[in-house]
Amino acid sequence: MPYLQPSGGWIELICGSMFSGKTEELIRRVRRAEIARQKVQVFKPRLDDRYSITQVASHDGLHCEAETVENAREIMTRLRPDTTVVAIDEAQFLDWTVADVARMLADRGLRVIVTGLDLDFRGEPFGPMPLLMAEAELVDKLHAICVVCAAPASRTQRLINGQPANYHDPIILVGASEVYEARCRGCHKVPGRPVQVPG
Ligand code: TMP
Ligand code: MG
Ligand code: ZN
Repeated sequence: MPYLQPSGGWIELICGSMFSGKTEELIRRVRRAEIARQKVQVFKPRLDDRYSITQVASHDGLHCEAETVENAREIMTRLRPDTTVVAIDEAQFLDWTVADVARMLADRGLRVIVTGLDLDFRGEPFGPMPLLMAEAELVDKLHAICVVCAAPASRTQRLINGQPANYHDPIILVGASEVYEARCRGCHKVPGRPVQVPG
């Protein structure tokens, strides 16, 4: 991020579908910050207990230590005075105040690295991610590979007993490749989606 002032804070956001490498990229940035002798704290919502509650973990098995929080506000209470870099994984599961928290930290001069799913299984904006994307100085949208046609995948297909999940199913369902796969727009299926005709 050479054009950002090293003395000022900022927010960098990494989003994209499941299996697009978001957590892998977060871990890469955290490691580089640690090599640069920055004081880093990594947070993740407690909701995501897929691999571990004391680590963030990518689908490929990379991991780093993390503190679990019940809500976004808890990030502020756990912040150590010498921390210079805050990383937040799975921000889509946090409440909307995560955008205020990220802003407060960046205003104080911290580097804030946030990852999360931009879209839920229905293909609609996920929780506070639109706010964070608007607030961030830098946004990277990563792509996976569509399992059906091998095009770049921007969406996450939820499958229940091998069938596309219905639009009206609950938004939160923690899981990995047993329930989800990466798909492109054309191959993404959401039965029950209301037809929206503009105008
Ligand atoms: P990942 O982006 O690190 O792969 O993790 C995404 C998590 O979000 C995973 O536990 C599945 C969950 N999830 C939902 O709860 N609802 C959804 O609509 C989607 C697409 C994922
Ligand atoms: Mg992840
Ligand atoms: Zn496809």
